Amino acid sequence: MASRKCAAVVVGAGPAGVAVMGNLLERQLGTIAWVDPCFEAGRINRRYREVPSNTKVALFEAYATATQPFRNVIEKARLPNAFSTMSKLEQDKTCHLHYAADMVRDLTDGLVKMEQVYACRGFVTAAKLTEKSSNQWTVRVQRHDSEGDVEIETSRLILCTGSHPTNLPCPVPSLDIQQLDLDTVLKPSELTEAIPTNRPSTIAVVGASHSAILALLNLIQLARTSHPQLRVKWFTRHPLRYAEYMDGWILRDNTGLKGTAADFARTQLEDDKLATSPAGEVITKIDCTGGDARENAQYWAHLPTCSHIVHAVGFTRDPLPHLTKNGSPLALEFDHESGRFHESNNGPAIPGLFGAGIAFPERVVDPYGNVEYAVGFFKFMKFLKKVVPSWATKI
Ligand SMILES: Cc1cc2nc3c(=O)[nH]c(=O)nc-3n(C[C@H](O)[C@H](O)[C@H](O)COP(=O)(O)OP(=O)(O)OC[C@H]3O[C@@H](n4cnc5c(N)ncnc54)[C@H](O)[C@@H]3O)c2cc1C
Ligand SMILES: NC(=O)c1ccc[n+]([C@@H]2O[C@H](COP(=O)([O-])OP(=O)(O)OC[C@H]3O[C@@H](n4cnc5c(N)ncnc54)[C@H](OP(=O)(O)O)[C@@H]3O)[C@@H](O)[C@H]2O)c1
Repeated sequence: MASRKCAAVVVGAGPAGVAVMGNLLERQLGTIAWVDPCFEAGRINRRYREVPSNTKVALFEAYATATQPFRNVIEKARLPNAFSTMSKLEQDKTCHLHYAADMVRDLTDGLVKMEQVYACRGFVTAAKLTEKSSNQWTVRVQRHDSEGDVEIETSRLILCTGSHPTNLPCPVPSLDIQQLDLDTVLKPSELTEAIPTNRPSTIAVVGASHSAILALLNLIQLARTSHPQLRVKWFTRHPLRYAEYMDGWILRDNTGLKGTAADFARTQLEDDKLATSPAGEVITKIDCTGGDARENAQYWAHLPTCSHIVHAVGFTRDPLPHLTKNGSPLALEFDHESGRFHESNNGPAIPGLFGAGIAFPERVVDPYGNVEYAVGFFKFMKFLKKVVPSWATKI
């Protein structure tokens, strides 16, 4: 098997992996290995190009210009390109995510051509830490080309492996109800094919955060156009929560509704609007507040008349490579402040292992003491600016 040494191995080429690359390259540590099956901006590009952003264009631009290697890529890119297109959009408005995805793809295309980057199209299947000798990781990559697997030795391994929608079983187990994938519901061009037009369908939507509200929006759009027989039951266990712009900071910056989802929720979904709004002609709200017993009773009462169910209840980390230390499997806990890991149950620090992105976000506390996890392009960048200098120091 081929083998080589690198200053770091970055796993994943979504917006977080790209941001890590920009920050590491800026520090000129030597060759950085970068592994991803396709180098095409991760899940945002694969699944969410049709989703409206909940952050302003200016923040995507701030991300794209935050490191010198990114600025070098942008300078060299032939016009027109994703950056020039993005810069023509209104900076304080939101945009569709295809603009952001294309920008990350252009950054990726520029970064993989750099001399200090060893881009490896494939999948990291395992990584073993050998502590006794020199805290080295040996990272195994299953390559997606004909060159076979490769092993990379490094003292820094950075996991930017992403997350996928959380799947839950149907709350009423024996029902014959079709599960709809959240990713499909967030993609109108696919959703239209997933629901029949020739018979009535009732879709259960579970949740009340960004994904759930956009799911409702896409479904009522279908009901008002190609699918007039479609109806929605909306199972929600808390009131709608919005981001609020305070003096110099944002309350519920990471959990509150923003952008298109917030506008739609405010004007059509609030209790005093739903009865008379266009959305109310399609959506019946099923109030699941009041605890587990009531929530369960609501499902038993209202789910049997539904044909489909979509869970919009957050995201779960993608499976990690098989990680071992001195031959034994590692159980990890992420430190959301330093971006490092330690062994579970307050075990020892794991040398040279770091994380970033939606799977490993920064923990933030707002001026009211509320704790949130910072998920977003520019939030990843801000976190990395803070922690990468310590990751980069000689180990
Ligand atoms: C629907 C939705 C809308 C969002 N909208 C916004 C927005 O408007 N603004 C904003 O700032 N943020 C937004 N976010 C939040 C966040 O920016 C995105 O979730 C972003 O895609 C997360 O990037 P990531 O790099 O952490 O993960 P991903 O994009 O999931 O990338 C992970 C990458 O790692 C690869 N990978 C995984 N395991 C391995 C392995 N073992 N070996 C090699 N490669 C591997 C995957 O193939 C993938 O390419 C949104 C999130 C969602 C879910
Ligand atoms: N561009 C966009 O507009 C957009 C769209 C989608 C997602 N995103 C981003 O993607 C990330 C994930 O967002 P998300 O909206 O998918 O999820 P999320 O913000 O993680 O919220 C998950 C929600 O699901 C609820 N929930 C969890 N388990 C539940 C259950 N069993 N039954 C009912 N409700 C349950 C939670 O409510 P409780 O608090 O009651 O547990 C919470 O409100 C965020 O960073 C978000 O900004 C952005």
